[in-house]
Amino acid sequence: MKSIVIAIDGHSSTGKSTVAKKLAKELEYKYVDTGAMYRAVTLFAMRNNWLQNGKVDESKLVKNLSSIEINFEYNPEAGTNDVILNGENVEKEIRAMEVSEHVSSVAKIDEVRKKLVEIQKQLGEEKGIVMDGRDIGSVVFPEAELKLFMTASADIRAQRRYNELKEKGEDITFEEVLKNVKHRDEVDSNRKNSPLIQSEDAIKIDNSELSQEEQFEIILNLAKEKI
Ligand code: C5P
Repeated sequence: MKSIVIAIDGHSSTGKSTVAKKLAKELEYKYVDTGAMYRAVTLFAMRNNWLQNGKVDESKLVKNLSSIEINFEYNPEAGTNDVILNGENVEKEIRAMEVSEHVSSVAKIDEVRKKLVEIQKQLGEEKGIVMDGRDIGSVVFPEAELKLFMTASADIRAQRRYNELKEKGEDITFEEVLKNVKHRDEVDSNRKNSPLIQSEDAIKIDNSELSQEEQFEIILNLAKEKI
């Protein structure tokens, strides 16, 4: 079996991480959720009060970037990797709605991207990896052997995310989630640095009408063709 890089990009809440995790497990590959890394930096800024009224204090965050250390640690219960921010497991905190509200503003900052992209490249040096995000096929691994671009209608994505958050006990409305999904699409797609785009050689998967199993089958078959 050949070791390859599988890049999964796409819009917010398209189930990229769910399918990426499953694929990595099936192929015995490493899995890296790059959104979690941007979320961890956002949490760090929030804890330092560098984020207020939707605005990031960019210069404070950039000045202190060297004091942010991000690692992944295997969680045997979940069978996946948790994000570790300066030695603390923040997997739960980074999924909160408040982090989702600010993360796209933080992800726009050039220095933040530079730092995280460097770590991502190192993680994928030996291949045998499934990485999901927004710029994996376009910037982090332009040479990836398999590139997927996932999308679905905003309503369907918001409904899925709303159900997830409700299950976790978040006090939130569907409208708030829909607004956030659309806002992140807008910011992620229109930023100057590494915007969310479908690379020419990426295969588009619209999963609006697909079950998780159907989608997994399609993606697994695409991967097997390359391995
Ligand atoms: O994947 P997830 O929805 O957790 O990502 C959170 C946010 O992080 C995205 O909305 C985007 O602003 C940012 N992101 C990014 N580049 C990546 C991964 C995530 O800009 N490779």
